[in-house]
Amino acid sequence: MKKFLSLIVAAALSFSLVACGNAGSDASSSTEATNSESQASEGTQAEGDDSLAKIQEKGELVMATSPDYPPYEFKIIEDGKEKIVGFDIAIAEEIAKDMGVKLRISEMDFNGLLPALNANKADIVMAGMTPDEERSKAVNFSEIYYLAEQGIMVSAENKDSLNTLESFAGKKIGVQKGSVQEKIAMEQMPDAKIVSLVKLPNIILELKSGNIDAAIVELPVANGYVKQYPELAISDAKVKDETGGSAIAIKKGNDALTEQINSTIKRLQEEGSIDKFVVEANELVDGLTE
Ligand code: ARG
Repeated sequence: MKKFLSLIVAAALSFSLVACGNAGSDASSSTEATNSESQASEGTQAEGDDSLAKIQEKGELVMATSPDYPPYEFKIIEDGKEKIVGFDIAIAEEIAKDMGVKLRISEMDFNGLLPALNANKADIVMAGMTPDEERSKAVNFSEIYYLAEQGIMVSAENKDSLNTLESFAGKKIGVQKGSVQEKIAMEQMPDAKIVSLVKLPNIILELKSGNIDAAIVELPVANGYVKQYPELAISDAKVKDETGGSAIAIKKGNDALTEQINSTIKRLQEEGSIDKFVVEANELVDGLTE
C-alpha cells in the first residue's frame, strides 16, 4: 500500500491548492427547517425537520473539508490519482453508509467551511473542527468524536530555548486563519506576533524556512509533521484548550440530521472503530515519508 503513496504534502507546499473544487454544484440540500427544540429520542427523526429525508432523497451526503490536516484529512496519490483520506473521511463514510447514501467530499479553505455550510453548499463540515462557543451559535454540532490537545511546533534547534509560553514573547507564531489556534495564540501568547495563514502547508513551509518561530496545531497533526521533518520538534510549552475536541458541524435547525450523525458516532465509539480509523490514518501519514 505504502508504495503507491507519494508525498502529496510536499507537493502541496510548492503550490497553492485550488480552493473549493466542485463545491456546491449540486449540493443545495439543506432545509429551511428551524426546529430548535428537538425532544425526539435517540434514533428518531426530530419532529418537523426533513433535513435527513432530503439527503436520503438526494442520495448523497456532501461533506465540506479542508484536507490539509493529517491525520484528520489530507491528500495522497494512489494509483496516480489524488485522493482525500484521513480519519474524518473514514467516519464520514460510515455516516453516509448508515444513511444509505453516497459520500461526496467538497474541498475548500478552512476559513470558508462554515460560510459554505450556511450557504447550503454542503450538508456537513468535518475538519477536525472544535465546537467552540462562537461557532456553536452559528451551527449545530454533533457530539465530540475525537479529543486531542494542542501542540506547539518549533524548529528542533530552538526546542530548548522556546520551552515556556513566556519564551514566545516577540516571536512569530503561525496559525491557520479562522482556527481556534488563532484565538488561543492571541489570548495565551499576548506578547507574540500572530501570523495567520489560510493553508496549513504554508505554515509548515514558513516554519521550516525560519520565517516564523512556531506553529500551533492539534497534537496528532504536530506529531505527524515532526516525524516527517526531523528539523522540526514539539515544544515543551503547552497552551490550554478548554473546548478541545472535534465535532461535526451541521446547519442550525437540521436536528434530524444531527441526531442521525450522533447515532453513527455512538455506534463507532462502541465498536472502537474511531481509534482504529485514527491508527489507519496515521499509518498513511507515515507512508508519506517512506
Ligand atoms: N481544531 C481547530 C479548529 O477547529 C483546527 C482545525 C483545522 N482543520 C483543518 N482541516 N485544517 O479551529
